[in-house]
Amino acid sequence: MSGQDPKFVKGAFAKIADRYVMTNHVLSMGTDILWRKKVGRIVQAWNPERVLDVATGTGDLALEIQRKCPDAKVLGSDFCPEMLAHAEESGVQETQVADAMNLPFDDESFDLVTVAFGLRNMENWEGALREMSRVIQVGGRLLVLDFSQPRGILKKPYGFYLNRVLPKIAGLMTGEGEAYQYLAGSIGEFPFGKEMLRLFEKAGLSECECELLSGGIASIYTGLKS
Ligand SMILES: C[S@@+](CC[C@H](N)C(=O)[O-])C[C@H]1O[C@@H](n2cnc3c(N)ncnc32)[C@H](O)[C@@H]1O
Repeated sequence: MSGQDPKFVKGAFAKIADRYVMTNHVLSMGTDILWRKKVGRIVQAWNPERVLDVATGTGDLALEIQRKCPDAKVLGSDFCPEMLAHAEESGVQETQVADAMNLPFDDESFDLVTVAFGLRNMENWEGALREMSRVIQVGGRLLVLDFSQPRGILKKPYGFYLNRVLPKIAGLMTGEGEAYQYLAGSIGEFPFGKEMLRLFEKAGLSECECELLSGGIASIYTGLKS
């Protein structure tokens, strides 16, 4: 178990940055919006004061958190300046270019760290979780939203859509079919369910929970820094 090549990932997102949001909404048929809204509701109940949205990309989750928690200070960070430029334009309060594997923040700087569809793309999943946990204060939380693998009757049709249909549509929309072929592969390799919860625990988090979204196509993982 490891992670992805950071050079390839940064380059791939730089190329699709201008079309990322629209392509997401088309490929997920708008479901990605509902998933982020669900995260927004969870976060609202925690009433955080200082939030770091890691791998914020174009800032969609950071913006949702700002809407739900208007009193919170929200910082979006990403290692791809082309993606982050869109987050700034869209109105994310504060942004910072930063590699999630080596965050430029002191220990325990935030009471909530979130990462949506970012962890899967990182170089070392276990190391990234440890690094995010480091900057969370005791009693604060980590929330990860990412793709997982559905079981049962959804498994086959979803696999066909992901591997055959999605790269073709995305290729037509962005001219970067390869980046979306990578997406399918990255989901297949990425730990999910109990395996992800074990990584959370190894990173010093407790009360770890997993909630399946859309039959397991995506999952929300949460943990408490103890
Ligand atoms: C699929 S996008 C997700 C963007 C956003 N969070 C969302 O929900 O749409 C993945 C993002 O992760 C970022 N990323 C990948 N590895 C990273 C790393 N090591 N440090 C910081 N950002 C990283 C990429 O630059 C990209 O913007």
